[in-house]
Amino acid sequence: MVRKIAILTSGGDAPGMNAALRACVRAGLYAGKEMYVIYDGFRGLVEGQIKQVNKDFTQDIINRGGTIIRSARLPEFKEPEVIQKAVSILNDFDIDALIGIGGDGTFRGLNDLANHGIKVAGIPATIDNDVGSTDTTLGFSTALNTICDCIDKLKDTSGSHQRCSLIEVMGRHCGDLAMNAALAEGAEGVICVEHPLKPDVLFKRLRHMKAQNKSHAIIIVSENLLDINELAKTISEQTGFEARTEVLGRLQRGGSPTAHDRILAARFGAKAVDLLINEEVNQVVGVRNNQIITTPINEAVNMKHEHTHGLRDLIDRLE
Ligand code: F6P
Repeated sequence: MVRKIAILTSGGDAPGMNAALRACVRAGLYAGKEMYVIYDGFRGLVEGQIKQVNKDFTQDIINRGGTIIRSARLPEFKEPEVIQKAVSILNDFDIDALIGIGGDGTFRGLNDLANHGIKVAGIPATIDNDVGSTDTTLGFSTALNTICDCIDKLKDTSGSHQRCSLIEVMGRHCGDLAMNAALAEGAEGVICVEHPLKPDVLFKRLRHMKAQNKSHAIIIVSENLLDINELAKTISEQTGFEARTEVLGRLQRGGSPTAHDRILAARFGAKAVDLLINEEVNQVVGVRNNQIITTPINEAVNMKHEHTHGLRDLIDRLE
């Protein structure tokens, strides 16, 4: 029987991690379980940074960005001796089950622990929305709203100077933030893996806009694809638009989670605890068509995220 449950957050922080932590702690306490937190992700686990918590620990965190138990990236958390160390620590602390809140790297770490006999559950949280076993990850909604806030402000100055603004957004190798931001902002162009845009097509479009005396242009570019400063230079040379670049960077990871992320966090957290209590172990939670679903973690780690169906066509029809 599961009596003691520990929770960690790992990988890039995402708004909604605190809300998920709160939901896990409270659902566990409600069911009469002892709840623990692990600071600094898998690194803190290996170092034994484990503390028992009560309900007060989760007071006033539902609306806070970041993660109060901190996060870390630990690439070594695949080496057998590191995994073994983590297993020994969990056994020393008598922890029966572990909930990991994070992205696909977190799920891989949890899966390795599951392969060593630890009971685990995973909650998807990353602004990138690149987890295959769910339609939506915690943090994506908030990051998208942050991007839109920034672009709304940028439009004021971009329009005042009749410039072309190139905005680089995060997503690692996933274009969900870029494509959704483009749709929400009515951008003149979006460049990402799922929606590659040929430079000559873009330049032709911008030249046409310039000829029609359009006030400005917004182009959204996913990170890790191209050098936006180089692209801006070519746009300035070839289209008549004066181009400027903005890299939104880690601003996109901060801020108070949206109501959507908070509510999803509550649903994910409660479900993850239910799974462990009911001995349906080694699963990750997710959402499909607004229903909470579960997927065996060994399958989840091999699933590729499908971007929202039809989004690309919609962008093409409306831009
Ligand atoms: O996974 C979240 C994310 O913000 C990605 O979008 C980005 O590529 C990466 O993390 C940056 O990581 P770090 O803050 O560790 O440099």
